[in-house]
Amino acid sequence: MRIDVVTLFPDYIRYCAGFGVVGRALERGLLAVHGWNPRDYAEGNYRRVDDRPFGGGPGMVMMIDPLRTCLQAVRAADPAPAPVIYLSPQGPRLTQRKVRELAGRERLILLCGRYEGVDERLIQAEVDEELSIGDYVLSGGEPAAVVVIDAIARLQEGALGDAESAVQDSFEDGLLDCPHYTRPVEHALGRVPEVLLSGNHAEIARWRRMEALGRTWLRRPDLLDEARLSPADRALLEAFRRQYAAALEEPDGDA
Ligand code: ADE
Repeated sequence: MRIDVVTLFPDYIRYCAGFGVVGRALERGLLAVHGWNPRDYAEGNYRRVDDRPFGGGPGMVMMIDPLRTCLQAVRAADPAPAPVIYLSPQGPRLTQRKVRELAGRERLILLCGRYEGVDERLIQAEVDEELSIGDYVLSGGEPAAVVVIDAIARLQEGALGDAESAVQDSFEDGLLDCPHYTRPVEHALGRVPEVLLSGNHAEIARWRRMEALGRTWLRRPDLLDEARLSPADRALLEAFRRQYAAALEEPDGDA
C-alpha cells in the first residue's frame, strides 16, 4: 500500500513513521509513505502557501493553487487511483471499521491543513472524504495523519508479530481489551489473577472474554450497543455484572 501525505511538515511525518510497527512495515516494504510539501509548488520568491481570510478574522487560510499543483504532482507519481482524505475536526470520527476499510486500499492521499484551514473551494474540488480523529482541535492535520498511518500499517499483512496479532484480534469485535499481567506474580501492588496462572486455556479464554465485556460495559457502554454479542457473551456479561455488584456490596470490596 502507498500513502502520500500533503503537508507543510513532511519531516514530521517521516520522523513519526520511523518507529515500531510502522517503521518495520516501511522497512519490509509492506507500506510506502511519501511526504509532499505544497510550498515546493508555490509561486514567487516567498513561496507563499497561505493568506488572510476574506471577511476578516484571525489566522491564515491555505491557498488553493499550491495545494492543487501539489496534488497533481502526487497523482502523477503513481497510476493507482487515490482518494484524497482531508484530516479535519469537521469530518466523521475515525473508527476501527473505517481503518479496516482504508487499509484495504491500494493507495491514499492524506491532506493536512494548517492555520485556520484550507480554502473551501479546494476542499470541494479535490477532497473525497474528511476524517477527524476526535472531538478536539489540533494545530494541524499532521498528528491525525500519523494516527491514520499507524492504524493502517498494523493491519497490513505481516506487519505484526504473532504476539501482537492476538491482541489485535480481541479488538476486532468492537470491545475493549481485557487487562494484561506479567511477572512478578506477587507484588506490593497486588497478585496476578489466579485463573491466568492455572494453565487452563479454556478458563483463561473465558475470563478474558468476560473482562473484555465487563470493561466495555463499565467504560464504553455505547460500544456494547454496536457489538454483536452471542448468547454466551450475554451470559458472561451477566456473570461479570453479578460479580461486580457483589464486590460493591463487600465492606472493603474494590471492584
Ligand atoms: N485537524 C485539526 N484537528 C483535527 C482533528 N481533531 N482530527 C483530524 N484532523 C484535525
